[in-house]
Amino acid sequence: MHRPALSQRRHCLRLLAACTYAGTPLYSHARARMTIRLSHVVAQETPKGLALQRFAELVAHRSEGSIQVQIFPDSQLYGDNDEVQALQFGAVDMLAPSVSKFGRIGFDEFEVFSLPFVFDHLRDAHRVTQGELGQQLLERLSQQRLVGLGFLDNGFKHMSANRPVLSPIDLRGLRMRIQASWVIAEQMRVLGARPIALPFDETRTALSARVVDGTENTTSNFWTQRMDAVQSDLSLTQHGYLGYAVIANERFWRNIPASERALIHQALVDALQWGNAIADSQNEAALVALRAAKTSRIHTLSAAQRTRFREAVWPVYAALAKRIGASWVDAVKAL
Ligand code: LMR
Repeated sequence: MHRPALSQRRHCLRLLAACTYAGTPLYSHARARMTIRLSHVVAQETPKGLALQRFAELVAHRSEGSIQVQIFPDSQLYGDNDEVQALQFGAVDMLAPSVSKFGRIGFDEFEVFSLPFVFDHLRDAHRVTQGELGQQLLERLSQQRLVGLGFLDNGFKHMSANRPVLSPIDLRGLRMRIQASWVIAEQMRVLGARPIALPFDETRTALSARVVDGTENTTSNFWTQRMDAVQSDLSLTQHGYLGYAVIANERFWRNIPASERALIHQALVDALQWGNAIADSQNEAALVALRAAKTSRIHTLSAAQRTRFREAVWPVYAALAKRIGASWVDAVKAL
């Protein structure tokens, strides 16, 4: 079957989203009084895809169908390069970008999340995301007329390439696709790799075309993008955290009548809590699927091998402290 190019599909969907905005919902949202357009870049069957779907269901249920959340997953509508701009222009209402992608839009403090080995468990990440520090980070977003509504986990990233990555030396000279994050670029550089920032929706193609040699991601993203088909080895380095901040266009958010805003906010809080509870098991299930598929060889690192990575990336902490001030880095380390 003919599948229109991504740019064509995006064009059609953007028209659809614009019509919804203009008050003429086109399909299943026809009876809703309000439709919230929410765009994200990953597959539906991921921790983020599922949590946002849950949010949509809770909103529809609790508002008895009068508020709908229309989700555009998989970079269908906007990708990494244009989604924040689309939000600021009001072309969509909500997003959930990776916390690693906020540095490039002016919020360098979010880079603390990308520090390699900064968290050992998701519960360590929650000390930031569910605490005072996380709240402070969300509040900073108002500087760009964004409302930070909460955080969501994916999990821990691993290294993939067309060779095992069991020691920093294995990364030497490799072109590694990364998210647009200063810290992740620095991490790759200190490990001897060449960081290449690419939007998520271009990653698999770039791996397949050998524009890049490898990447880092969680097993749920690796599996749902079928990166195993284009990478011979996945090494379970578990070296970095991937999570999301759910954000809204400030004007859109403030214009929602207070009682409806409270309903939407509570639904989001509940969905994020649910999402955080299932994130680990989603990544586990993806790993089981990857093992069963046998397309990539999967390597588990010993504690000593992980320690070598941990020691090798230590300079990234000082580099980030120099860039954003030691207080943010120290505050995260102290938690
Ligand atoms: C990536 O670009 O690798 C991730 O941020 C994608 C995502 O949203 O999980």
